[in-house]
Amino acid sequence: MPDFAVSVEGPNFEEEMSLQKLLESYKRIGFQANSLGKAIEIVNKMRKWRLSDEPVAADESEEYLSPEVRANTKCNIFLGYTSNLISSGLREIILYLVKHKHVSAIVTTAGGIEEDFIKCLGKTYLADFNLDGADLRRRGMNRIGNLIVPNDNYCKFEDWLTPILDAMLAEQKETGQVWTPSSFIRRLGKEIDNEESVYYWAYKNDIPVFCPALTDGSLGDMIYFHSFKNPGLIVDIVQDIRNLNELSRKSRKAGMIILGGGVCKHQIANAMLIRNGADYSVYINTGQEFDGSDSGARPDEAVSWGKIRAGSESVKVFADATLVFPLLVAATFAEPNSRE
Ligand SMILES: NC(=O)c1ccc[n+]([C@@H]2O[C@H](COP(=O)([O-])OP(=O)(O)OC[C@H]3O[C@@H](n4cnc5c(N)ncnc54)[C@H](O)[C@@H]3O)[C@@H](O)[C@H]2O)c1
Repeated sequence: MPDFAVSVEGPNFEEEMSLQKLLESYKRIGFQANSLGKAIEIVNKMRKWRLSDEPVAADESEEYLSPEVRANTKCNIFLGYTSNLISSGLREIILYLVKHKHVSAIVTTAGGIEEDFIKCLGKTYLADFNLDGADLRRRGMNRIGNLIVPNDNYCKFEDWLTPILDAMLAEQKETGQVWTPSSFIRRLGKEIDNEESVYYWAYKNDIPVFCPALTDGSLGDMIYFHSFKNPGLIVDIVQDIRNLNELSRKSRKAGMIILGGGVCKHQIANAMLIRNGADYSVYINTGQEFDGSDSGARPDEAVSWGKIRAGSESVKVFADATLVFPLLVAATFAEPNSRE
């Protein structure tokens, strides 16, 4: 074996074991624990990087010459997650990251937007994967895995949203400015005015939230009903693809943390193509690659497309994000001694 080879070793519970020490031990357990250990290292590198860590290039632009500017130029972190994760308790972890400005941009799907606002209006409950669908339907309950959302929550959401849609349409008619999914979400974050909302903090901290398929959820139902009563609202995805891709292009360093697959995964990776690939990449998802799905694709597939830089640090943790993401955040963004 070469000198740098690391032996397999699990945590020793004979010793005092803090959470951080336990997470540190993951690196040497093997299999997905090992991948989580690597994910922790990569996220900490994203967080630590400053432009001042690198020599000034001969062709450096004027705005990045000052040592102070270089010391304050960080890696932009793009966070993606599927809708169900906002339905789950990962919402509070995502809120923590947004509230403390740990991420630069978010991409999610429609449920990932509406479920956050809906949770400000009514609760989502723990239940069981095996509850009978027909029985739940009769009782006005909707199941997301082993969670339940009462129909009533969606009625409250409609009552809250409809007058906002009226106002947004009136403003559009008055100013000629059309909405984009990100300006739409920003407006809802402002309107909810509730510190329990992820998107309230995104609005407060000016963190853009992209949702290219904004209509594929309850939001789409509300926009559909509203379009009969008060037609004319325009939500433009072209301006948003410019906003997202430009943010990626202008990032001096870019990292991806993507929980789950589908649109949230690919839209971020696709934006990375504009800058010849992400510098740091962490995927946590259960998707498999044998079916050729983008959801299941490992980082190496993205390298072939120029979405992840060849030779850069990347990892895929094959796991349910609800198990792994709290641990990842505990060892990185929320770790008391780690550098901001
Ligand atoms: N609460 C909801 O889930 C909800 C609510 C309303 C609308 N929708 C809509 O359903 C559509 C599909 O949802 P989506 O694109 O967000 O993702 P999805 O639920 O279809 O998941 C995509 C892939 O991500 C991975 N994944 C999902 N959950 C994971 C987890 N806990 N851990 C690890 N990997 C995971 C799996 O590989 C999965 O195949 C979207 O358009 C969304 O707006 C969802």
